[in-house]
Amino acid sequence: MTKILMVCLGNICRSPLAEGIMRSKLSSTHFFIDSAGTSGFHSGNAPDPRSIEVAQKNGLDISQQKSRPFRAYDLEEFDVIFVMDKANYRDVIRHVQNEDERQKVKLILNYPNSETEEVPDPYYGGKNGFDHVYNLLEKACTFHSNQLISEQ
Ligand code: 4NP
Repeated sequence: MTKILMVCLGNICRSPLAEGIMRSKLSSTHFFIDSAGTSGFHSGNAPDPRSIEVAQKNGLDISQQKSRPFRAYDLEEFDVIFVMDKANYRDVIRHVQNEDERQKVKLILNYPNSETEEVPDPYYGGKNGFDHVYNLLEKACTFHSNQLISEQ
């Protein structure tokens, strides 16, 4: 079983979408997908309604997810940890205990021909922000899921 963790700040906007999209592309027999937030601000909460809506528009139901905080143990438990932006990267990398754990942490938009480096935080923005985030994550998850399948 390969375990993949999606991480953003609140675990209510970006990483729940990344979790839902990635899960739709990988077999649950071989892959376990989860998400977490570097802050515990929204711990226990469902995804932001705007994320639920853009997911639903694209045929995914993420409404049952619950926000949880990132914990240092995730670096041991998971095989790959995808972060949405550089602040998330710094907050996660702070907890690494060895080189093996450091190698697990990757910016999700760091793949060939990616149009940008960071998934922008859509929390304070308008609704278009969520469509943009969805499109960025859909492309990134297509690349990474194919990569993970080929590495099996
Ligand atoms: P996320 O978005 O990191 O994509 O879940 C945010 C959600 C909440 C807050 C910031 C970003 N907040 O400050 O409460």
